[in-house]
Amino acid sequence: MSRYNVLILGSGGREHTLAWSVSRSPLLGKLFIAPGNPGTGTLGENVPLSPGDFPDPQAWFEALADLIRREEIALTVVGPEQPLVDGVADYLEERGHKVFGPSKTAAGLEGSKIFAKRIMHKYGIPTAGSVEFDGPSVLDDLGQWLSNENSDWPCVIKADGLAAGKGVFICTNRDEAIEHLQRIRSDKTLSDAASRVVVEEFMTGEEASVFAITDGKNARLLLSAQDHKRIGDGDTGLNTGGMGAYAPAPVVNAEMLRIVEETILYPTLRAMEEEGHPYRGVLYMGLMITKDGPRVVEYNCRFGDPECQVLLPALKTDLLEVMLATAGSRLDEVEIICHDHHYCGVVMASGGYPEHYEKGKKIEGLDRVSDDTLVFHSGTRLADGDLLTNGGRVLTVVCRGDDLRSAIDACYREVEKITFDNACYRSDIGAKGLKYGLNDESADDLA
Ligand code: AMP
Ligand code: GLY
Repeated sequence: MSRYNVLILGSGGREHTLAWSVSRSPLLGKLFIAPGNPGTGTLGENVPLSPGDFPDPQAWFEALADLIRREEIALTVVGPEQPLVDGVADYLEERGHKVFGPSKTAAGLEGSKIFAKRIMHKYGIPTAGSVEFDGPSVLDDLGQWLSNENSDWPCVIKADGLAAGKGVFICTNRDEAIEHLQRIRSDKTLSDAASRVVVEEFMTGEEASVFAITDGKNARLLLSAQDHKRIGDGDTGLNTGGMGAYAPAPVVNAEMLRIVEETILYPTLRAMEEEGHPYRGVLYMGLMITKDGPRVVEYNCRFGDPECQVLLPALKTDLLEVMLATAGSRLDEVEIICHDHHYCGVVMASGGYPEHYEKGKKIEGLDRVSDDTLVFHSGTRLADGDLLTNGGRVLTVVCRGDDLRSAIDACYREVEKITFDNACYRSDIGAKGLKYGLNDESADDLA
């Protein structure tokens, strides 16, 4: 059997999960992670090539290409969105290297809200109605529109570019909208991302995400999932990168999945192909399940974090085989089969996150978790043999169960075994899925 050396780009919980999943494949030769974290370091070789250590993305891509040649890497898997939006897949593919992840233009589905909305409106993909603001006086034009227009409230103001989760403002009235506009003006990162702006109709319903792997023509669905973006129980407090996830999400029952495939997934793939930018990699469809059916809130061009932590453990199929088939445009040869379990992942974070928090707290208890618990590292570092906290989100603890309730209970039992000073986590991850009952049949009945 051929074996393939693999490089994973990134350093978070998502990348630890990708490394864990790939490392189970009999197809794997050597595994490299750049830059990785202490979790990925137990599964492969962490290579200290961080984008931040290079003057610009091109210089980093060059260093990656050297590594790929030197180590005969057959596939590069891109974890985060920024390198994709910067064109890492184009750079490496032009040099004959295989990449799991979309081209720069195709990654525009996440990198530019305007690009994504234009595709959706042009091809009739269900989403919120929207108005674009572009040009040299974009914020003034928007201010004028908000003051003059007889617009519907609430509305959603979105910066066009990547804004690290800070670029979306839900405004319940005109005063709030004007206040948000001031905030955009006074924040450098935000005003850069907001050189173009979209104002969207506010959609109501339950949010859920559906993930597909696609080679541009063929697509395979993974489980649906729900993230928990706010810091506090009951979806209160500040937005974070994501405090926990569970899968599958019962609001996306089998019929809903079929509708998502028919009205969103395949129309998006056909649209991208027709526009000359076939989409390859993971397509993350952030959806609002409204009373009129699923509508797109956003696309992402990569796995979610922490959604990845609950999706990949569910795979029965060899992830590396799927990713090689995707990069080789032959996904039609591979099926994706998932285990029949439910998965819950709770993020343990540093107290104070997503605002100010301290690092360097000793993490203990990882040796006490049960054998079938998975603990994925995000912000951790090793110092003299101790594992220390080194970021806002520190670990994701993942357990499975025959139903959602038992997955949640198992997960919190394990979380309590792990300690570090000022650890914080939500106590209600997965709770919104429980209202659908204990199994998929009852979810089908309720939806
Ligand atoms: P986005 O970055 O576009 O996913 O937006 C972040 C969050 O804002 C989403 O997860 C939703 O909770 C909310 N949101 C964004 N757009 C809308 C919309 N048009 N209607 C309702 N909520 C929205
Ligand atoms: N958990 C949300 C995201 O990865 O975008």
